[in-house]
Amino acid sequence: MGRLAIVFSLLVVLTLLSIKLYVKEGDKEAFWDSWARDWEEAIQGDTDEMDRMIKAIPLFELREGETVLDAGCGTGTLIPFLLKEVGRGGRVYGLDISQEMLRIARQKHYDGDVSFLKGDIIEIPLPSESMDRIICFRTFSIIDDKIGVLREFFRVLKPSGVVVICNLLGSKEETVLLKEIGGAIANDTSPGVKEMEQFFLESNFTPVELLDSDTLYIMKARKPLQ
Ligand SMILES: C[S@@+](CC[C@H](N)C(=O)[O-])C[C@H]1O[C@@H](n2cnc3c(N)ncnc32)[C@H](O)[C@@H]1O
Repeated sequence: MGRLAIVFSLLVVLTLLSIKLYVKEGDKEAFWDSWARDWEEAIQGDTDEMDRMIKAIPLFELREGETVLDAGCGTGTLIPFLLKEVGRGGRVYGLDISQEMLRIARQKHYDGDVSFLKGDIIEIPLPSESMDRIICFRTFSIIDDKIGVLREFFRVLKPSGVVVICNLLGSKEETVLLKEIGGAIANDTSPGVKEMEQFFLESNFTPVELLDSDTLYIMKARKPLQ
């Protein structure tokens, strides 16, 4: 094959690859947009799930005055509780890729300092070392590039800041559920303890707590002071 043919083939492959990536990203955003209203109704109407969420919040160990990012905030279910924990001197940011999720979140009344940001968790539109804590609730398992996202969390956290990844289902149950739901999240998975520990170490975090039971998944790690 001549040099020109090789360059041309490479260009074709790269173009196809970037179209595929674009379609995948676009698919996920559209998927969550189309789910926003049903998500809000399902979550708000599920008193057992809400109770279990409220019981999990003290495990986040939020402190008064902290600046917290709710990464993948959806319709803002967690926001009032985070605001309550950080108090008057604290600040909460809600980030989500879905315009529709954010539209519902923004309509609510919140008692406290909250800002919503539209963006991808892999490229958070916040300065480096600006957050005390990042909460990633019911969202980490549906992220494709998990180490990439942890590295981005590391960038945004202040030294000694903490990331908390939490689901109300164990990793096995969550992975089965994602397959059942299907669509753009059918092949997503929730990492178990060993895998999660490895992910934390690879992204320079110090693991703090790694719990994966049938009904609670909580993975915490700290960004070292230096
Ligand atoms: C299962 S919902 C959870 C929402 C919220 N944390 C809750 O528990 O009610 C997952 C959320 O993650 C958002 N999401 C998915 N991929 C994302 C990404 N790459 N960047 C930011 N948000 C994303 C979705 O739009 C959706 O709102």
